[in-house]
Amino acid sequence: MQKSPAPRANWATRFGFILAAAGSAIGLGNIWKFPYIAGQHGGGAFVLVYLACITLVGIPIMMAELAIGRQGQRDAVGSFVALEGPGSPWCLVGWGSVIAAFILLSFYAVVAGWSFDYLLKAASGGLRNRSPGEIEALFDQLVASPGRVIFWQALFLTANVAIVLGGIRTGIERWSKILMPALFALLLLLFIQGMRSDGGGQALAFLFRPDFSRLTPRALLDALGHAFFTLSLGAGVMITYASYLEPEADIRALSLRIAVLDTVVALVAALTIFSVAFSANLEAGAGPGLVFKTLPILLLRLPFGSLLALLFFLLLAFAALSSSISMLEVVVAYLIDEKGWSRRLATILVGFAVFLLGLPSALSFSLWQDVRPFFGHTFFEAFDALVSSWLLPLAGLFVALYVGWFWGSKRPNKTLPGGSLQGGLSAGWQLLLRFVAPAAVILILLNQLGLLPSG
Ligand code: PHE
Repeated sequence: MQKSPAPRANWATRFGFILAAAGSAIGLGNIWKFPYIAGQHGGGAFVLVYLACITLVGIPIMMAELAIGRQGQRDAVGSFVALEGPGSPWCLVGWGSVIAAFILLSFYAVVAGWSFDYLLKAASGGLRNRSPGEIEALFDQLVASPGRVIFWQALFLTANVAIVLGGIRTGIERWSKILMPALFALLLLLFIQGMRSDGGGQALAFLFRPDFSRLTPRALLDALGHAFFTLSLGAGVMITYASYLEPEADIRALSLRIAVLDTVVALVAALTIFSVAFSANLEAGAGPGLVFKTLPILLLRLPFGSLLALLFFLLLAFAALSSSISMLEVVVAYLIDEKGWSRRLATILVGFAVFLLGLPSALSFSLWQDVRPFFGHTFFEAFDALVSSWLLPLAGLFVALYVGWFWGSKRPNKTLPGGSLQGGLSAGWQLLLRFVAPAAVILILLNQLGLLPSG
């Protein structure tokens, strides 16, 4: 291990940590993905299942990740080394997480880049005076232009590098304190506008009046998988961010706050988008194109439509940025803590490497749309599946097993100050971490292997 030249960085305030961690959790997953999967699965009943997954599986695993980082006081790999020693197989879990964050950032930056492009379109009046057909075509034109997509991807990554170069307090924390309040304000504004439109009441009924006949096994698995992604679990983020906390931090209270913020934002975003959709008599099950293709058309029909579209894409860009800096920090923290690199070198090199790794994903909709080396999938699809369907749930599973079974049993009363995790966790949370969370993740994995008859 390298000598650490300065004392380890930490958060200036507890509130700053909550904003940064909630910033990581609240991302494209909340604004883009949650509304369309909730729409596809028929609303109300799916929302109930989703809330159950967040509570029964997501929050316990988040507590476990926070405990590992707070205790290890190092990056996602180093924290396992600090707790178990260098040769321990548990370190592989940390490794898997760092790799997941690295690959995830490479294609997340491509989608985030699209939102930058739309931001410019909305700001420059490029969406105005166009027919719905023309607006829909804009998306296909964008993703089919390699130069433009790569330009925005590079710009987005540059913004990430600029923030992470600043370190924890003056980079990530300071920017989270700007981005997150702005995001909440923008969302509130759009929400009020949406609720005042004709579709407001219908959107409320759609999301909060459960119709259990629409619930399928597929919905359950989607809810479970999404709970993972939306809480930023399995990618080392919560371990790394918690390693900048003081050892007395109350991880139970912290994880509840982060999860509540994430859930509220997902629900409010979905209500906003559905109210706009219903006011135009649109089907809620429009799918992944909802945000980029359908929503601009609908927003432009409302009073102050161009302004609303601008605010919406600003919201999307902010949400993406506050999430992606956490992925970059996972890899950078690893190189600083384990390899003794300077923050400057680590951030710039990782930023560049992520850009290169993202190029095949950026081209997956244009020049390389027919390059499908992975069972007929493009690079973009394959990277997404590898991370979201495999690496995140697998890392989460082992985190739950580690903290639930191994850590506690080896050191019944020792080494866990700040209310040891086991001591600090009520029997209920422990039960969830030991049995319910692992069983749920195993269910997702079996389903992916095609071993469950859910279709
Ligand atoms: N939680 C983020 C979102 O909802 C995605 C994410 C996953 C971020 C894993 C970091 C780590 O968009």
